[in-house]
Amino acid sequence: MIFYFSGTGNSKHAADLIAKATNEKVISMADCVKRMQYDFKLKKGERIGFVYPIYYWSLPSVVEEFAKNISLEKYGKHYTYSVATCGVATGGADMQLAKILSKRGIGLHATFSVRMVDNYTVVFNVKNTQKNDAVNLRAEESLKNIVFLINNKTGGYHNKLRGVWPASKITKPAYDLTRKTSAFRVSEDCIGCGICAKQCPTSAISLDYGKPVWVNKKCSLCFGCLHHCPVNAINYGHMTKNHGQYTYHEAKED
Ligand SMILES: Cc1cc2nc3c(=O)[nH]c(=O)nc-3n(C[C@H](O)[C@H](O)[C@H](O)COP(=O)(O)O)c2cc1C
Ligand code: SF4
Ligand code: SF4
Repeated sequence: MIFYFSGTGNSKHAADLIAKATNEKVISMADCVKRMQYDFKLKKGERIGFVYPIYYWSLPSVVEEFAKNISLEKYGKHYTYSVATCGVATGGADMQLAKILSKRGIGLHATFSVRMVDNYTVVFNVKNTQKNDAVNLRAEESLKNIVFLINNKTGGYHNKLRGVWPASKITKPAYDLTRKTSAFRVSEDCIGCGICAKQCPTSAISLDYGKPVWVNKKCSLCFGCLHHCPVNAINYGHMTKNHGQYTYHEAKED
């Protein structure tokens, strides 16, 4: 059983890859939170994975909410792992997850991380598709190694991208303060297709006379709406405008 959360496809790709190799199913944490579905029955020997992106060196709010409520029937010695996809560094997100899961009686036996394209276009420019492909090709190598370790139920904290992780104590409150939807802007290029609202994992967007309106004050800040818009009409603050759009696709070697 692999629980995943993904705004722009990196973590979904990682989850799908692991699922294929381990013959286990993927379950969307966002859908579970929407349906308030937290109870799961385990099969004997089944592995349990949590795959998610890093936001502000912390867990996405959806992942935190899901982990706080999850209930695993017949949880025993089931090998449990996490895989964080990030652009630069993860901070202490895996330790945050371990702490939350331990309160649900679940151990986190192994943690992994992989660098993929950074979709935080407030800071990063994702227009160079060749550069993006190179990053994701390198990620594929890391993912192969992670899959090998998961297949062998290897324990240990293998996350090498934590950086100065105690700083997560500061960055986590910063994330909670920043994830306000009031910073989203829609340009007149909007064609009213509704894709942004449909794919929002927190149901934070509604269409009002064909234009998106953020109906919740806070969201998970996955940037999925911004990156999936077919005409690049969504911005967050003033910095994303010229930094391009990104969604995961299989990178091709030259
Ligand atoms: C709001 C926000 C904050 C982010 N913060 C971090 C961060 O602190 N460290 C990092 O390495 N990447 C950060 N990222 C980049 C994502 O973690 C990375 O691109 C991830 O692979 C996206 O996964 P997804 O495609 O499954 O959504 C951030 C992205 C967003 C949207
Ligand atoms: S995805 Fe873009 S074009 Fe479609 S409704 Fe949303 S903002 Fe408008
Ligand atoms: S409003 Fe946009 S950034 Fe916020 S959760 Fe929904 S899709 Fe993600």
